Order: sequence, then structure tokens, then C-alpha cells
Amino acid sequence: MDKLVITGGRRLQGEIAISGAKNAALPLMCAALLTREPVTLTNVPALNDIRTMLKLLQQMGVRVAREGDTVTLAAAQLDNPFAPYELVKTMRAAILVLGPLVARHGEARVSLPGGCAIGARPVEQHIKGLAAMGAEISVEHGYIHAHATRLKGARIFTDMVTVTGTENLMMAACLAQGETVIENAAREPEVVDLAQCLNAMGARVSGAGTDVIRIHGVERLHGATHRIMPDRIETGTYLAAAAITGGEVRLTGTSAGYLDAVIDKLMDAGCEIVSEKALNHEAIHLRAPPRLKAVSIRTAPYPAFPTDMQAQFMALNSVAEGTAVIRETIFENRFMHAVELTRLGADIRIDGNTAVVTGVDKLTGATVMATDLRASASLVIAGLVAEGETVVDRIYHLDRGYERLEEKLAALGALIRRVQS
Ligand code: EPU
Repeated sequence: MDKLVITGGRRLQGEIAISGAKNAALPLMCAALLTREPVTLTNVPALNDIRTMLKLLQQMGVRVAREGDTVTLAAAQLDNPFAPYELVKTMRAAILVLGPLVARHGEARVSLPGGCAIGARPVEQHIKGLAAMGAEISVEHGYIHAHATRLKGARIFTDMVTVTGTENLMMAACLAQGETVIENAAREPEVVDLAQCLNAMGARVSGAGTDVIRIHGVERLHGATHRIMPDRIETGTYLAAAAITGGEVRLTGTSAGYLDAVIDKLMDAGCEIVSEKALNHEAIHLRAPPRLKAVSIRTAPYPAFPTDMQAQFMALNSVAEGTAVIRETIFENRFMHAVELTRLGADIRIDGNTAVVTGVDKLTGATVMATDLRASASLVIAGLVAEGETVVDRIYHLDRGYERLEEKLAALGALIRRVQS
């Protein structure tokens, strides 16, 4: 299993390009199931989760052509509407095939994802919404079986804001008969990106980006070409990495517009941030102070502070001046990085969904490991300032969601290398 070895103490400086968004790419790939015609996606990041999704779609009968960051998916023939446990347990986003399969194919058998390192993460809202659209659904032997001759438009109110739930139901509704209204919909930019691609495929979706999405069902969708939005969490992660080292970086191919809550907090911590916007070109420039000020955060659905940036901010606060309170309101078990950060010398107390982080003068390198993607990112960030060597174990989590992480950090001047063990 690969490890990352980081020697702390280097100030990050320079420019890197941000990749396409993992959490936009995964639903967009599933949207290709909705049409017989090819769907071409550009700016697709090279990540393990993307490879897993391609494998799943191929096994269903989808033809895949990949060249550089362009992927073409052709679902003319769908002969196996099945998502096995082995794939779904490694990548929960596989649940996103459920809506498109029932809508287009009339049938789906998708494994229940089960819990994961950050919480129980049930999918009953996905099921409830599809049932409201007339799908017959049973759950047996750990699998969701769904059937429908043609889905019917419905009014759906989700009990909580769910990102993939909104995406699954929005995709299914595109081919339903009549109008579907999703209330309490997720407003995440990835939902908007998906809606834009669906509309380019001939769907009639309006309201994406607000909490009420209306979908007027159509008979069929056609092919389209769509450029995947920049990864706002990758962007935020590199901003945090630069900030903790007192660095100065420019991130290209990304937009500050998706990151207001994160950028506000970085500015509160003492960073100067300039957003550059010109025709066909956007970038973010950050300059950090020698020492950050502690900033309290509370995670909540978009546009509030994202749970996917919580761990990285815990790392920042662990060496900042002062004390920060971090509240995690989305996932019940997303503080697994705290104990590993403590092994590097951080002062963190956890009480339920609240962490109190008191900044220390320095962290010291150690071997650490994490149980999920963003937790691993926080350990890398801490390693950049920890004295001596930090070894981050189990980096397959990072490979699921960060494209060429060590190359990008090294390009900014970090001393980081991947070793095989
Ligand atoms: N929830 C339910 N029932 C449901 C659906 C959700 O109880 O039927 C709960 C979840 O357990 C959680 C909350 O609602 O407590 C919100 O979960 P949501 O459904 O929004 O999460 P998700 O769609 O499974 C996506 C991202 C996650 C990100 C969350 C929250 C993708 C592929 N994944 O997950 O990304 O943390 O939204 O923003 O889009 C990551 O990239 O590291 C990652 C975990």
C-alpha cells in the first residue's frame, strides 16, 4: 500500500491548475444512462472513483472511450442494470445509477451502500422519491430492486438536504411523464452542473441552485458534450495547504464563486485572497500571513461551509493563534482525523459533533493514517508544517479524490514523495 512522506516546513509558492470536480463528474457519468446517444464529458479528473464508476457503467453495457480528460459514454445497449455490493461499498456514489436506470431501462438492482467511515449514510430519501414517482421498490438481501414501466411526475419533499438524493431524483424525473417538483433540494454547484448537462441533453429542468427544482419530463433525451465544473473542494484544499505554510499561490482553472464560505473563513484567518475573472479564464490568488488566526466553522448544506472542508480547517486551526470551535452538522462521525492530528501534537477536544481546537506553536511529524478522503487531506496539510517527517498511510483514500496530489504539492515547493511498501 502506498504512503506519502512529507518533510514539513516549506512555504508553498507558485501556480497549479485545478482539476474537474469528482462530485460533479460521478453524477454526470450516470446521466449518460438516460440516453441511447453518446454523451461526451470533458475536464474529467483521473481518479480512482472515476475508474470505479467507468467499470460499473461498462459492466452494464455502456461503451466507454477515454482520451486524456475526455470521456465518451454510449449507453445504446443496457443489458445488465445491476450495481453489485463489491463496487457500491467502495464508492457510495454508485447509488446514482438507480434513478437513471429505472427511468430509462424500467428496472434496476443496486446494492445498498451500507455505512462508511464518516457515518451511517442511508439512502431512504432516494427510494422514497422514486416510489413517489411510481416505481415499485423492494429491498431484499441488501439490494434495492426497482421497477417501473414509466415513472410519473410527483411532488417530492426530502426530509433533509441530500446532494446525491437530489441528483438521483432529478435524473429520474427527466424521463418521467409530467412534472416533478423536488422541494428542499440540494443547492450545491454540482447539482447545477448536472442540470445544465441534462438540459443540453434535451431535458427541461429549472430551479437548480435553489431549493425547489422543477423537471418537466420528456419522452427521450439525446447526446451532448459537457465540460465538468472545477473541483471546489480540491480548490479549497490547496488554498488551505498554502495558508497553513504562510505561502502564496495562484490556482487556475477554478472559480472563487463556488467557495464563498471557505474564502470568507480564510480571510478571517488573515489571508489575502483575490479572485481573477476574465473571458475564458478564472483563477484565485492567495497570500497567507506568517501565522493564521483561529476561525470557528459550522458545516451545513451549500452555500454554507462544506463538510468536505471541515477536516482541512481542523488542521489549519491546530497551529493557528487562538481557539476555534468546529461544529459538524452533516455527518455524525466525521472527526476521525482529530485523533491523528493529536498524534502530530494538536490540541483538540471532541464533544459530540463539536471539536474545540486550541492552536499550538508547532506540530511534530509522525506516522498517521486516515479512514476517509478529506481526513487524509487534513493530515497531508498538517504534515506540511509539522517539524520533521510525517508519513501518511492508506493513501488510497486520497487517490479516490485528488488527482496527482503529490505532484501538485511538489510543484508548489512541498517536500513530498510517494513510497510503495
Ligand atoms: N441522508 C439520509 N438519508 C438519505 C440521504 C442522506 O439520512 O436518503 C443524510 C446523510 O446520512 C447525511 C446527510 O443526509 O447525514 C447529507 O448527505 P448527502 O446525501 O447530501 O450526502 P451524499 O450525497 O451521499 C455528497 C458528496 C459527499 C459530501 C456530501 C455532503 C458526492 C458523490 N458525495 O454525498 O462528498 O460530503 O454530499 O455535502 O457528491 C467527499 O467528496 O469526500 C464526500 C464525502
